Amino acid sequence: MLCFVVLSVPWVGVDSGVESVQLICKNIDCLPKDAKVEWKDKNNRKVHVYENGSDQPEEQDNKYKNRTKMKRNLLEPGDLSLTLKHPTDGDNSTYTCTVYSREGNILLKKQVELKVRVPQVEVDSGVESVQLPFNTTFHLPEDAKVEWKISSYTKVHVYENGSDQPEEQHQVYKDRTKMNEDLLKTGDLSLTLKYPTDGDNSTYTCTVYSRERNILLKKQVELKFTVCQVEVEEGAESVQLPFNTTQNLPEDAEVVWRRYEPYRKVRMYKNGSDQPEKQDQDYRDRTKMNEDLLKTGDLSLTLKYPTDWDSGEYRCDVWRSIWFIRRKTVLLKVKGLYFCVCMCVCLCLCVSDCLVSPLQGEFRFRIKQGTSGTEAAPLIRLL
Ligand SMILES: *[C@@H]1O[C@H](CO)[C@@H](O)[C@H](O)[C@H]1NC(C)=O
Ligand SMILES: *[C@@H]1O[C@H](CO)[C@@H](O)[C@H](O)[C@H]1NC(C)=O
Ligand SMILES: *[C@@H]1O[C@H](CO)[C@@H](O)[C@H](O)[C@H]1NC(C)=O
Ligand SMILES: *[C@@H]1O[C@H](CO)[C@@H](O)[C@H](O)[C@H]1NC(C)=O
Ligand SMILES: *[C@@H]1O[C@H](CO)[C@@H](O)[C@H](O)[C@H]1NC(C)=O
Ligand SMILES: *[C@@H]1O[C@H](CO)[C@@H](O)[C@H](O)[C@H]1NC(C)=O
Ligand SMILES: *[C@@H]1O[C@H](CO)[C@@H](O)[C@H](O)[C@H]1NC(C)=O
Ligand SMILES: *[C@@H]1O[C@H](CO)[C@@H](O)[C@H](O)[C@H]1NC(C)=O
Repeated sequence: MLCFVVLSVPWVGVDSGVESVQLICKNIDCLPKDAKVEWKDKNNRKVHVYENGSDQPEEQDNKYKNRTKMKRNLLEPGDLSLTLKHPTDGDNSTYTCTVYSREGNILLKKQVELKVRVPQVEVDSGVESVQLPFNTTFHLPEDAKVEWKISSYTKVHVYENGSDQPEEQHQVYKDRTKMNEDLLKTGDLSLTLKYPTDGDNSTYTCTVYSRERNILLKKQVELKFTVCQVEVEEGAESVQLPFNTTQNLPEDAEVVWRRYEPYRKVRMYKNGSDQPEKQDQDYRDRTKMNEDLLKTGDLSLTLKYPTDWDSGEYRCDVWRSIWFIRRKTVLLKVKGLYFCVCMCVCLCLCVSDCLVSPLQGEFRFRIKQGTSGTEAAPLIRLL
């Protein structure tokens, strides 16, 4: 018979932004002087290797280069704990500390799990700006470089040599970011992002480098955006899909409103004018946008005489040659009158439950005819 012993692995939790975290591994007995110590993560990558009396950095995985330090006092019962600098949630893992004798026998094996918590900022659509907080008490050198990024090649904001470096940031963030003055002195490295949209939903990483490009600090913040939802009753004269962004967008920008499922081109604006010939038939003569939209940054779309059929997901993209520089999604829900009546009748029928089936059949038929899109599905299931 098999017998399982479940030993729970000790874990350590830290907040993103701390300078370092310690992964504890304490040996009970004295270990031989020529023992080898190996720290590995759960993907079997080498985190830190200590052999023949010294660290072996060339054996380390690149991910952990320059980020580890091990206590070593093999002769005394003590500590093989590992210090891992600048932990991020990418370091969430179970770490194993193994000690081998010269002959390769395992003398000690311990595990510890690391959990790095990333703060979340939730934003509703329509707010003018959002702040990604990062305050540090770490003493920052005057020539430090600060970089907010969402990936290694998408830079959100760069601060170097005492000033912002807008030419380094991605187009999507142009004119939309702000950091405080005197940030190195005050330690307030928070980033303000203006006109956030669902396109900004991401994990942002702030990294501070010394002049020698060594990492001094690293902090992540997750921005969670709720999709903009607009509701209107069928029969209304018009509905607005709101999108306000920065003023003075480049003159060669192209603004495209589309809907998905079914895919339609709703409205196009290019080279300073509307492009009605590129619109799909369903939306001809039914849409309106403000004049001077690039100057005012008000890219909102007005849709006339919305019907139940118009319900769905709409997206506005602003393109500049091959890059999109702004993006926003709006979920439109048009509550049809027919749908409301139907829903009431239908609920009554369900409750009373004493129905002649031909009538039910007719209802099912009419609902399939009369409604489309997302509302239809639950209704049919209800019947
Ligand atoms: C440690 O020493 C042994 C024997 O001297 C040698 O075989 C081994 O390659 C050394 N390991 C490292 C990483 O230097
Ligand atoms: C580690 O630090 C050295 C010296 O500062 C540097 O040359 C090297 O690029 C760094 N390696 C990594 C992976 O950061
Ligand atoms: C890392 O661990 C924290 C804490 O358990 C968790 O909230 C987070 O989602 C994890 N992140 C990743 C990328 O696994
Ligand atoms: C950071 O610290 C400054 C002053 O030290 C304070 O005014 C600001 O509110 C703090 N910001 C955050 C995000 O905690
Ligand atoms: C900052 O200054 C250093 C040294 O003066 C220089 O090499 C570097 O190019 C400068 N960076 C920027 C973005 O101006
Ligand atoms: C933003 O990300 C969260 C979690 O990653 C997700 O649940 C949410 O649907 C996303 N919102 C948008 C608008 O993409
Ligand atoms: C966009 O901004 C302008 C001016 O700030 C304001 O008048 C308008 O109501 C805003 N539109 C939306 C949809 O928020
Ligand atoms: C853009 O508009 C200008 C003047 O309205 C016109 O001369 C030019 O040919 C247009 N360019 C394109 C690519 O349509």
